[in-house]
Amino acid sequence: MDCTWLLLLLFFVQNGCSSTISTKQNVLLLLADDAGFQMGTYGEKICQTPNLDILSKKSLIFNKAFTSVSSCSPSRSALLTGLPSHENGMYGLHQEVNHFDTFNNVISLPQVLKTAGVRTGIIGKKHVGPKSVFEFDYEQTEENNSILQVGRNITHIKLLVREFLSNKTQPFFLYVSFHDPHRCGHSNPEYGAFCEKFGNGEEGMGYIPDWQGIYYQPDEVILPYYVPDTFEAKQDFAAQYTTMSRMDQGVGLVLKELENAGFLNNTLIIYSSDNGIPFPNGRTNMYDSGVQIPMLISSPFHTKRRYQITNSLTSLLDIPPTIYDWFSIPEENYQNKHKLTGKSLLPLLEKEPSDTTKEVIFGSHNLHEITMYYPMRMIRTHKYKLIHNLNNNSPFPIDQDFYLSPTFQDMLNRHKSHENLRWFKTLSNYYYRKEWELFDLKHDPEELTNLAYDDNHKMVFKDLKARLFQWQNVTQDPWICAPHDVLENKGFYANNPQCLFLDN
Ligand SMILES: *[C@@H]1O[C@H](CO)[C@@H](O)[C@H](O)[C@H]1NC(C)=O
Ligand SMILES: *[C@@H]1O[C@H](CO)[C@@H](O)[C@H](O)[C@H]1NC(C)=O
Ligand SMILES: *[C@@H]1O[C@H](CO)[C@@H](O)[C@H](O)[C@H]1NC(C)=O
Ligand SMILES: *[C@@H]1O[C@H](CO)[C@@H](O)[C@H](O)[C@H]1NC(C)=O
Ligand SMILES: *[C@@H]1O[C@H](CO)[C@@H](O)[C@H](O)[C@H]1NC(C)=O
Repeated sequence: MDCTWLLLLLFFVQNGCSSTISTKQNVLLLLADDAGFQMGTYGEKICQTPNLDILSKKSLIFNKAFTSVSSCSPSRSALLTGLPSHENGMYGLHQEVNHFDTFNNVISLPQVLKTAGVRTGIIGKKHVGPKSVFEFDYEQTEENNSILQVGRNITHIKLLVREFLSNKTQPFFLYVSFHDPHRCGHSNPEYGAFCEKFGNGEEGMGYIPDWQGIYYQPDEVILPYYVPDTFEAKQDFAAQYTTMSRMDQGVGLVLKELENAGFLNNTLIIYSSDNGIPFPNGRTNMYDSGVQIPMLISSPFHTKRRYQITNSLTSLLDIPPTIYDWFSIPEENYQNKHKLTGKSLLPLLEKEPSDTTKEVIFGSHNLHEITMYYPMRMIRTHKYKLIHNLNNNSPFPIDQDFYLSPTFQDMLNRHKSHENLRWFKTLSNYYYRKEWELFDLKHDPEELTNLAYDDNHKMVFKDLKARLFQWQNVTQDPWICAPHDVLENKGFYANNPQCLFLDN
């Protein structure tokens, strides 16, 4: 080949590359497991999270971010597909007897990114399937590691991140999915209620070289309103603080690795959690205490709103569109049979919308564990929340993990011995819910007064119900007609799906 040809070829190769690789090169997604607002940024005074606090200074801080479902695998499947769990098929937990997977034809974030030439990696808790849908180029997960090592051992996590970043191929998407500060009393009681003893250097606990354990006293804990004011709950909370602080130090190590590898100035950093904390009224609930989550987004190219707060209603369903936007991936590469209903959050990094009054987010829950069939649908505006409990004649289910927790065991003991629960609800009004729950969030942020059957709120109820139904329709919700009607959408009804009344 003569030289001119070679030069021409090089010219094309280089041009080809530069058009696909923009300056916005990488994404680092940091996900905490069951973490709430126990961090300085959100006003926490006791639990120490200096690394997240530093990240906040470079981030837009989301004050109204929500998961679409308060359950681990369903939430992660929604985060990694942009589709609510009723649409992607991950109706409940992935592991063991629960056995849920998304549909095989669902298009996932790692698939879209891989096709677009982005190198993908996951370190930590995966908890979604099938493998064919959620394949990353680099995987160190519970599927072939101890979850404690890839999810809680921050030294081990640091070294894995270092390994991933040692491959300088850009652009990349790295998903670091901590298992802290999840409960652990149900699976590994030897390490404490939250695995707070794992790696603390005591006999049999092993040692995590990079971790400076921070221990909290139950009497210094400040409980949120929805946790019983008891010693057991405070002790439980203090243990969770310790693992929250460990995860925070892990975040610090990961960010240091990113900096050392030279990627701090071209990487979008997102921090969030999969769902609310594992306490009563928290995880597995559609109340704000179950679905509201922390979120920080830091971009080296959007510096205007650093350390500012946004009150815009945001959903984890917005994360895939945000990442596609960041990598300039055209819509036709990911919008298909299932249309994503989320929006890119990058514009928010520039400017708060002038009118947020019409904003709305949605939630959809089906199961947590396989026995916990309790489908709920939710619509939330700034002012109101409407929850539809499709199976409200059944008691609200309690998971194995939370059931054994000191907090809940104490509640049961108190209930049995007719002692004061020191809680804002009774067990029976927690278990037995009305089919519809409507709350005025401005006047009743604790969601205690159900207005769904109140004459003065008929219009609000009707309006939210109609919008919820519309969203269920757009997102192809198989439960759209439940519980009072039957959906007919085949044969005679193929072109005109109908909810047919049971007439009971
Ligand atoms: C886990 O599997 C991935 C490939 O899926 C492999 O790259 C990695 O080395 C494995 N890790 C361990 C500890 O076996
Ligand atoms: C770096 O990552 C790319 C994309 O996954 C892969 O093709 C390549 O083999 C990796 N390089 C090294 C040295 O591991
Ligand atoms: C954590 O990981 C490091 C590095 O792999 C290892 O040396 C250490 O023993 C691990 N600690 C525990 C508690 O497993
Ligand atoms: C990031 O920093 C490196 C090293 O200082 C520099 O070469 C590169 O151009 C910077 N990238 C951006 C997008 O600023
Ligand atoms: C969903 O919307 C489509 C299009 O507007 C309509 O044809 C269909 O009947 C709706 N589904 C149900 C169950 O109402």
